[in-house]
Amino acid sequence: IAYTYGMENIQEGDEIVISILEHHSNILPWQMIAKLKKATLKYMYINDEGIISDEEIQTKITPKTKIVSITQVSNVLGIATPLKAIIKKAHEVGAIAIVDGAQGAPHMATDVQDLDCDFYAFSGHKMLAPMGIGVLYGKKSILEQMPPFLRGGEMIETVSEQDATFAPLPEKFEAGTPNVSGAIALKAAIEYINQVGFSYIEQQEEKLMKIAMEELSKLPYITIYGSPDYKKHKGVLSFNIQDIHPHDVSSLVDYHGNIALRAGNHCAHPLLKYLNAQSTNRISFYFYNTKEDVYQFIEQIKKVRSYLGYDV
Ligand SMILES: Cc1ncc(COP(=O)(O)O)c(C=O)c1O
Repeated sequence: IAYTYGMENIQEGDEIVISILEHHSNILPWQMIAKLKKATLKYMYINDEGIISDEEIQTKITPKTKIVSITQVSNVLGIATPLKAIIKKAHEVGAIAIVDGAQGAPHMATDVQDLDCDFYAFSGHKMLAPMGIGVLYGKKSILEQMPPFLRGGEMIETVSEQDATFAPLPEKFEAGTPNVSGAIALKAAIEYINQVGFSYIEQQEEKLMKIAMEELSKLPYITIYGSPDYKKHKGVLSFNIQDIHPHDVSSLVDYHGNIALRAGNHCAHPLLKYLNAQSTNRISFYFYNTKEDVYQFIEQIKKVRSYLGYDV
């Protein structure tokens, strides 16, 4: 009962629609709710270039859909989703539209009112703030109707022995002592990022991605996942080196080149299965990275196969 409290809007036979691009954190809660409520969890799939087609949007989101929850940018492929079309369709069928902005908010100018999403979430630790703090935006009219999902100090108006009334927004949802230092640090990070400016951030990441993809594409033993167009990769690129496990790649480029390369399945098992890849290497850039960083990375990638005894 505790889990389902406040989830009256999902009933047996209803549908929750997400995409195959999602991070586990935008899959597992919906699996839990779907099981508890006997609802159906449906996926929008991607084409060979990592894009969700309009046909997927139009056919998967139906009058049975109550929630659509979708990432802004894939943390594996770096590809942005067609958010506006998805949100528009969700609203046409009367569903709530939620956006996972963890990989979007740090990399691109985002206007939640223009998107018209009902909820938008992002994490501080992906945008120069410490761990343990993030932002959940929600439309006021919806938040006002929702009951609190956590009980504790600071979120009440009155408490009697047997009952309580709750504080107005946003305190209603903020039970307990808040992460004050985290909030102060996140504010400083947001101000700094705004000072740098999203036009610079997007330009710089695009410049670095262009070099990385051009150079990687010259190597015959490399597989790049998602679109071949560098403009489609928002600071993130997944690739594999033929015959070499990504964990070996990441250890070697770390040891020889001091490069932090992420290897594994990136908390996106369903996507990796869909891509027919057990794991990938993933580079991710931010605005402080330089062309020199990219060339240093490429130099190391060119050596990986020979480090392991292959005739390149
Ligand atoms: C797209 C995406 N969504 C959600 C998350 C989870 O964020 P957090 O670790 O702050 O819960 C991540 C990264 O971990 C992510 O890349």
